[in-house]
Amino acid sequence: FLHKLVLGIETSCDDTAAAVVDETGNVLGEAIHSQTEVHLKTGGIIPPVAQQLHRENIQRIVQEALSASKVSPSELSAVATTVKPGLALSLGVGLFFSLQLVDQFKKPFIPIHHMEAHALTIRLTNKVEFPFLVLLISGGHCLLALVRGVSDFLLLGKSLDIAPGDMLDKVARRLSLIKHPECSTMSGGKAIEHLSKQGNKLHFDFKPPMQRAKNCDFSFSGLQHVIDKTIMQKEKEEGIEKGQILSSAADIAAAVQHTVACHIAKRTHRAILFCKQRDLLCQSNAVLVVSGGVASNLYIRKALEVVTNATQCTLLCPPPRLCTDNGIMIAWNGVERLHAGLGILYNTEGIRYEPK
Ligand code: KG4
Ligand code: ZN
Repeated sequence: FLHKLVLGIETSCDDTAAAVVDETGNVLGEAIHSQTEVHLKTGGIIPPVAQQLHRENIQRIVQEALSASKVSPSELSAVATTVKPGLALSLGVGLFFSLQLVDQFKKPFIPIHHMEAHALTIRLTNKVEFPFLVLLISGGHCLLALVRGVSDFLLLGKSLDIAPGDMLDKVARRLSLIKHPECSTMSGGKAIEHLSKQGNKLHFDFKPPMQRAKNCDFSFSGLQHVIDKTIMQKEKEEGIEKGQILSSAADIAAAVQHTVACHIAKRTHRAILFCKQRDLLCQSNAVLVVSGGVASNLYIRKALEVVTNATQCTLLCPPPRLCTDNGIMIAWNGVERLHAGLGILYNTEGIRYEPK
């Protein structure tokens, strides 16, 4: 019964998270501290504030994950920590803490690429073999990649500007949805989804971006500016001040969500066709994994289902708590890397530790 045990630590953005996962994928313990509430108040993440909050919470969160798992640091096989990409100040807190820990307990350190971790999460919950396609859509991420192995990714497309969640957050802020009685505690994206149910998407006609671009890239900032202008015009028409809620807010939300869903679905369709034509994906049983905070949007998921049904693909989404940033995906990425014989690093003195 000597399973390998990996502690995963994540601080790349605004969540301080840790988890212990064993080599078969059992989650033995996890803990997370979200800074969302603080950042909602300031209208976005201020990096030094995020850094300070990570510093205040990391010790406790790692301790909680370890205690919940009943694993002591000396029993760990390795510590896996997100080292990129992300906010440098935030990443630094997790990295510094982890290096101290591996130094103290003489453990191997596994540096984790945050996007690799998001992409591999599905293998913790479902039996998914390589290769598969992954679509990552959140507040900070927007990419389409073919996952050929644990650290073998072919990037097929990415956003040329901002991520879809970032755009939805900006539109929600512009619509002052935080003042809406039903939406005040929701993220921007969730508020848009919620309000869309009360609106008519046909009342506004926003064009999906990049309709003629023969690639799988995305773009959201042009669309966002068009929406901003529309909101400004509506505010004039309705004679309301900036900061008040438009009577057409639900219609705008529905049209925005529809346009974003169309754009994401079309780019994903192109990626599936690209891979199938070149035999990069299984013809009969190709898998599309969709993850990230925006993946929890059911309207966007429906749009993606239309695409996967038309191309004989299976659409898979990790459960919501694994779609957003968490420590489990980092620990699991560590397990995958150990299995693949990849990515073991040095301690703070530069001594290399090989995993047993
Ligand atoms: O993955 P996540 O928690 O954090 C990162 O950005 O990495 O994603 C958060 C993003 C936010 O932009 C939020 O507005 C968006 O995901 N989001 C949604 C929904 N729930 C969260 N977007 C659309 N529909 C939702 N239901
Ligand atoms: Zn993420």
